[in-house]
Amino acid sequence: MTRRSEFRPNYVALPAPAKLNISLAIGPRQPDGYHLLDSLMVPLDLHDDVRLSSSAGGIELAVSGPTGASTPADPTNLVWRAAELLAQEAGRPSDVRIELFKRIPVAGGLGGGSSDAGATLVGLNRLWNLNFPVSRLAGLGSRLGSDVPFCVYRHPSWVRGRGEIVEPLQTPIPSLFIVLIFPGIAIATRNVYEHLDVSMERLLRIIPRKHPFRGVVFFNDLEGPALEVCPPLSRLFRTLEKSAGVPRLMVAGSGSTLFAAFDNPTDASQCEHRVRSCVSCGTAVAAVLPGPPEDIHDEGDCDGHQRGPDQTGGPPQ
Ligand code: C5P
Repeated sequence: MTRRSEFRPNYVALPAPAKLNISLAIGPRQPDGYHLLDSLMVPLDLHDDVRLSSSAGGIELAVSGPTGASTPADPTNLVWRAAELLAQEAGRPSDVRIELFKRIPVAGGLGGGSSDAGATLVGLNRLWNLNFPVSRLAGLGSRLGSDVPFCVYRHPSWVRGRGEIVEPLQTPIPSLFIVLIFPGIAIATRNVYEHLDVSMERLLRIIPRKHPFRGVVFFNDLEGPALEVCPPLSRLFRTLEKSAGVPRLMVAGSGSTLFAAFDNPTDASQCEHRVRSCVSCGTAVAAVLPGPPEDIHDEGDCDGHQRGPDQTGGPPQ
């Protein structure tokens, strides 16, 4: 058996799962401009794919996939910044070709960009044989965005602080199937936070909508501000609740994705059909992952030309 430290893949591919805030409580704004948060976050089986291989020199980035058109293939992309940051930290050149296949809507509240960055950190740790502990990768991720540390762990977790404190859940998350509704609107997270009123008056006046379901409580402090900054989203929300009868409808993170949770795939599919017959939005049903996605594929040489112990296959076709 080959030890991990001896394995030198020349190709690493891994899924970058969408994240869902089951609950999201926002606290006061800090001097650095960020708000404290307390969130139960879970990974979904809706995912982008990140494929990493050696480049002739520097960073190369190619983006494709259903939502790839709205993703920049340049140094502003979080995967590019993740690669630069990790190379700098490791004191090595940032030679990597990154192929990003996008399925997660961009600026949709599902953490697509953050997840791509998290997967890039995890994948490059393997490709470059760095053996950084996951906590160090998460610490680097926190410099890229507040959801990135969670996206390094990719395990159902309580996320606190500005997002840098990630406590993986010790108890299993119940089996949940999420109907996702994509309005095709990009909402800037910063804009939503700016509409958030965390004053004591608001806390005394407004009790956030809560949906207890299967032993977890769904709520989102950013829901009101997201609907406020985006009136078309607010109209869609009302239509889906009233005309399509979607139960427990929620805004995902800072929006614009809307979602509803079910405890079985049949009810979720029926709800998805009702949504499709009522509004012309993209939809999907995604399962909550009980832990990090398993299907990581590395290809390459170890010192003895053997496959590493946790490798499961070759590059996707
Ligand atoms: O870190 P991320 O890129 O996700 O944050 C986008 C914006 O959302 C930040 O620039 C900030 O305005 C706001 N934000 C915040 N408090 C957080 C996370 C994000 O105010 N904990």
